[in-house]
Amino acid sequence: MAKHIAFAGKGGTGKTTIAALIIKYLVANKKGTVLAVDADPNATLYEALGIEATHTLSDIVEEAKEKKGLDDSTKKDYIENKFIEDALVKSTGYDLFVMGAPRQSGCYCFPTTVLKNCIINLENNYDYMIIDNEAGMEHISRGTIQDVDTLLVVSDGSIKGVRAAGRIFELTKSLSFDVGEAYLIVTKIDDPAPLQDEIDAAGLKLLGVIPYDTLLTEYDLHGKPLLDLPDDSPAVKATREICEKIL
Ligand SMILES: Nc1ncnc2c1ncn2[C@@H]1O[C@H](COP(=O)(O)OP(=O)(O)OP(=O)(O)O)[C@@H](O)[C@H]1O
Ligand SMILES: [Mg+2]
Repeated sequence: MAKHIAFAGKGGTGKTTIAALIIKYLVANKKGTVLAVDADPNATLYEALGIEATHTLSDIVEEAKEKKGLDDSTKKDYIENKFIEDALVKSTGYDLFVMGAPRQSGCYCFPTTVLKNCIINLENNYDYMIIDNEAGMEHISRGTIQDVDTLLVVSDGSIKGVRAAGRIFELTKSLSFDVGEAYLIVTKIDDPAPLQDEIDAAGLKLLGVIPYDTLLTEYDLHGKPLLDLPDDSPAVKATREICEKIL
């Protein structure tokens, strides 16, 4: 069964960035087979990885609506099979799935259920699943990702961020799925010492700090893939230390 590493945390704290950098680490160090799951409806992980994702789960849901002769149950099977056949992007050293956003108004229940089933179906094909989530608690409260081995709750260097991380951690404890271990990662600062009391109050163990890295800003500005960041960039080095602790 794949080891599930999932992300949570306030918006813009660095979840997608760290997900991409962990994938970079796993691929560069040949740690095993990797499935990257972009479970954020406003998908950006594929851009951080620098690959094209032409077919998302939401595209397939739309296509299925046009398809004749499908009832509710065959439609679900059709979408799940099609998603695995057509939407799994194979890249060098890892594969990627993108959920994407529903085209019409309405809730995300259906794509979320399909995503959950596809993750279960592919469980034995990979050593690692790296699951990038949207800000907030949607996928956690819906249980899209069952049995998270490692939950990385990401906060910027702010009291608000750490408190939000604490609330997410509390929520995971009240739900019916298993979280193996949950850690806090603080980003964009060098020294987390002033936040230590808040971190303790949140009940989360600090796994590491990803310092502010101007190279990330530059790569973002030019839309360059984070996989191309040099090994001595501060964010890459800090991610390596984090990976060595949890893998
Ligand atoms: N350590 C860092 N140093 C400098 N910039 C960073 C760092 N981490 C993230 N950023 C920048 O912060 C912005 C938000 O990062 P990212 O998209 O990874 O956050 P997110 O938590 O995934 O956001 P969202 O909640 O919108 O999905 C990006 O422009 C990214 O380049
Ligand atoms: Mg993100």
